[in-house]
Amino acid sequence: MRKFKEVRQDFPILNEFIYLDSASTSLTPIPVIEVMNDYYCNYNSNTGRGNYRIAIKSSDKLENARVKIAEFINGNPDEIVFTKNTTEAINIVVNGLNFKKGDNVIVSNIEHHSNLVPWLNLGDLKLKIAKVDDSYTIDPEDVNDLIDENTKLIAITHISNVFGSKQDIDEISKIAKENNLLFLVDAAQSAGYLPIDINKIKPDFMAFPGHKGLLGPVGTGFLYLKKEIAENLMLKNLGGGTVTNIEGNKFTLEDVPYRFEGGTQNISGIIGLSKAMDYINNIKIESIEKYCSKLTEELYEKIYSIDNIEVYGNPNNIHHTVSFNVKGLNPYDVSKILDETSNICLRSGFHCSIPSLRSINSENGTIRASIHCYNNFEDIKKLYDGLKLISQLK
Ligand SMILES: Cc1ncc(COP(=O)(O)O)c(C=O)c1O
Repeated sequence: MRKFKEVRQDFPILNEFIYLDSASTSLTPIPVIEVMNDYYCNYNSNTGRGNYRIAIKSSDKLENARVKIAEFINGNPDEIVFTKNTTEAINIVVNGLNFKKGDNVIVSNIEHHSNLVPWLNLGDLKLKIAKVDDSYTIDPEDVNDLIDENTKLIAITHISNVFGSKQDIDEISKIAKENNLLFLVDAAQSAGYLPIDINKIKPDFMAFPGHKGLLGPVGTGFLYLKKEIAENLMLKNLGGGTVTNIEGNKFTLEDVPYRFEGGTQNISGIIGLSKAMDYINNIKIESIEKYCSKLTEELYEKIYSIDNIEVYGNPNNIHHTVSFNVKGLNPYDVSKILDETSNICLRSGFHCSIPSLRSINSENGTIRASIHCYNNFEDIKKLYDGLKLISQLK
């Protein structure tokens, strides 16, 4: 616990606010901000272009970040593509694959829009929907039952951003392999909260945010992309940095992953993300997982104990995110009151996952409290006190 008390000092926003919206974007620790400042103050320059010393330093830092990111998920650096967020990572895959009319892809009924709308946008592609049970969990057998001869890919979120439920992606990955299907995991809500080992999960694609659980800056994310598949993907963002030669109207592509990274990258952000991984490694991801699990348990129980509140997660499978409503009140009003009276930051509404809210027949969405390792039991107590008062308004 002492360790987490010290961690808190690295997030000055917490001196004023009770931040419970890490599922949207996490806070950024001072050491990460410092390395980004160092870039801007001391070696601000583009990467992979200039041969002056500070440009070489930028390039080296960026490529070292790629190595660090790869190590963090036990992957290879040439399978890491920098992106600005999870959404961009998923779109690279969706728009890079060559689907035929009649092909289908399996997703769940609690996907974030970022792992749904890009697929829907492919017009001719059919989506098959695996439904979660009352613990908001997908039974891998149900996924298996949905597979037919036209199924090409399974795309599943690791942890739900509305209910906090974790899916059995090891088992679903096995099913994908047995059926010769591609497998994409949306790690937006799991990375930085639990250990992720690409060699264990064996996905073909895994989409990551830098700015959520990983404690990196906004505007960062990355895609894990299996090399042999990457070679055959169509490219939608070509330009500077993506080719090695042009002859007439023919061009030669750069190697993977550089061909996916057209234009100047978010250099300071990626260097910051790599520092954030050092920061997490220092605390140890297993300790974060354990501590966040205790906090989540407390969060769920405290909210559940208040009369007049409906809680939607299932305590048997809930990770760092609890969704709820105060009966008879609009979630938007509740979060606004808590902000203005108690400096509590929560998200309310549909959480970019209308299907999740449909699954619980919710008209106005929910209020969502989500934690990270910089939160403490006092934060939860303050939320409890605020909610208790509001719940008595009715
Ligand atoms: C499960 C899930 N997938 C995808 C996203 C999109 O993430 P990003 O904002 O990094 O694109 C989110 C964001 O909340 C999410 O929770």
